[in-house]
Amino acid sequence: MKRVPEGVAPQEPRSARVFDYLLGGKDNYDVDREFAHRILQVAPETRSLAWFSRNFLLEAVRIAGATGVRQFIDLGSGIPTSPNVHEVAHETDPTARVAYVDNDPVVFVHCNALMGNHPAVTALHADVRHADRLLELLESESGIDFTQPVAITMVGVLHFVMDDEHPAELVARYRDAMAPGSYLAFTHGADISHPEIIARTSQDAMNTSAQVRYRSLDQVTSFLDGFENLEPGVVPLQQWLADDLPETKLVLYGAVGRKN
Ligand SMILES: C[S@@+](CC[C@H](N)C(=O)[O-])C[C@H]1O[C@@H](n2cnc3c(N)ncnc32)[C@H](O)[C@@H]1O
Repeated sequence: MKRVPEGVAPQEPRSARVFDYLLGGKDNYDVDREFAHRILQVAPETRSLAWFSRNFLLEAVRIAGATGVRQFIDLGSGIPTSPNVHEVAHETDPTARVAYVDNDPVVFVHCNALMGNHPAVTALHADVRHADRLLELLESESGIDFTQPVAITMVGVLHFVMDDEHPAELVARYRDAMAPGSYLAFTHGADISHPEIIARTSQDAMNTSAQVRYRSLDQVTSFLDGFENLEPGVVPLQQWLADDLPETKLVLYGAVGRKN
């Protein structure tokens, strides 16, 4: 019997498992922990950043939920961490639909098992880079109604989409499917991050799915074309949460857009 299921790749770092380790989880391999420690050597505060990023995700769910959005699509959802999107969405409306989407089989297995007793919550094993296929699945498998507003979150995902995979066009495809009153929230690795962080994450993850493309403020802002860019805008994600959170050597921009 094969002990490692298809696609799990225990010999190379996977962003879902590295992120799980940074958050204090246990669903990771040596290779993921070594990768995380190469970052932590330069920027020990990256563990805090991982939690700030989770808080940004949940804040985006609250912003959309407060305006009446009742369908949430978490793209690149990661290994389940509590509190999660459905827990926050269900504080406002226990019937709100939540679809978790990730292309990592470890994420899918955990997510699917944990969500079994939530009828309005589904897990999809799919690749966000295949937007047309995913939009179909969200309708057919997750019951998402794109004639009604949705909130799409892409937290820590778009920087894994390389330039030749056309991230701006990808986001635009999702935007075009969204009804007025919908929200898009994302974070993205910034090219103003500490050079040593950029070097280490680039070298260590070269040609793996954990390879990050750090982008400029202008490039990241362009992903919001066709959206109203909510305040405080495209800024280090700490600024979405509080005035007094520390800066980090790994800079992640956070942004929330509303489709009017
Ligand atoms: C850094 S983790 C962030 C997880 C989660 N969004 C969070 O904030 O806690 C990035 C996640 O995106 C997923 N991911 C990366 N590229 C993807 C793709 N092309 N399609 C679907 N998921 C992807 C990874 O498997 C991983 O779970």
